Amino acid sequence: MSTSLSQAKIAFVGAGSMAEAIIRGLIETKVAQPQNLYVMNRSDQSRLAFLRSEYGVQATSDILTKDTFLREADVVVLCMKPKDVVSAFAELQPQLNERQLLVSVIAGLSIAKAESLLQTHMPIVRTMPNTSSTIGLGATGMSFSSKVNDTFKQLATQMFEAVGIVTIVEEEKLEIVTGVSGSGPAYVYYFMEAMIKAAIEGGLTEEDARQLTLQTVLGAAHMVQHTQENPAELRRKVTSPNGATQASIEALDRFQFSEAILQAVFSSAERAKEMGEQIAAPSPIAKSS
Ligand SMILES: NC(=O)c1ccc[n+]([C@@H]2O[C@H](COP(=O)([O-])OP(=O)(O)OC[C@H]3O[C@@H](n4cnc5c(N)ncnc54)[C@H](OP(=O)(O)O)[C@@H]3O)[C@@H](O)[C@H]2O)c1
Repeated sequence: MSTSLSQAKIAFVGAGSMAEAIIRGLIETKVAQPQNLYVMNRSDQSRLAFLRSEYGVQATSDILTKDTFLREADVVVLCMKPKDVVSAFAELQPQLNERQLLVSVIAGLSIAKAESLLQTHMPIVRTMPNTSSTIGLGATGMSFSSKVNDTFKQLATQMFEAVGIVTIVEEEKLEIVTGVSGSGPAYVYYFMEAMIKAAIEGGLTEEDARQLTLQTVLGAAHMVQHTQENPAELRRKVTSPNGATQASIEALDRFQFSEAILQAVFSSAERAKEMGEQIAAPSPIAKSS
């Protein structure tokens, strides 16, 4: 196979938002060439037409063309929902070979389960990206099966660095990564929703409330990045004794803000684990028969 990402043929199985985010990143950063990117789905033709015209990739739902794409690919990226894994894998399995690299973005699907469903020992990279990948500011957690060599590790890392940052962790830690960065954008949106609501209740226009909230979140994130200080230290610096910010932090503490975030992170991690366990789990009917 080609060992450089710019030459590699990459087949995306699933043509949804995560596949598009990675494709856009690869093309915009010029780390891959559009003609080497293949995208496939089951039925949504308008989606395929959009991806073809927007990115110049090859896209199909035709079974024979899909088989050709899969056989030709150096890297196969699994981008379907967990509920579609079993049927998709049954179609995929005969076309894959152990010289290819398999990359999964499927929440909760363990490497062992992917190996068992596909009856393969091909190298597998399991990832947990997030939606900010769409604008190149993603945060991806990544783990490798024992079969992934250094070249493939580098290739997979480069692929996801095209859409943001990559953190390599042991596989069992990908659930907590899901809780932190996978679901994390939603916590920040929820926080912003609440800030905007409070600003409007306090008398600001919707536009002003939105602008001030957005700039505050952007500014705070950049402060952490630029100063390299701990958020706790930055918070201490803006919280004068007996001042307005101290009053607001005390209000957050009364409502157990910190505990709520902790619970959010762990609930997401737990649910990701459950979803993974449900993939290909025997149905209640199958169990009783
Ligand atoms: N979005 C996120 O923030 C995020 C973050 C981390 C991980 N993920 C993971 O990324 C995966 C994809 O999420 P998404 O948001 O991109 O989903 P999505 O927008 O719903 O896209 C799923 C795609 O899979 C296709 N598909 C379903 N069954 C298929 C099959 N048998 N063969 C080929 N294509 C098939 C669907 O098209 P047809 O229906 O036409 O086949 C669709 O194009 C999920 O497993 C999710 O856990 C997503």
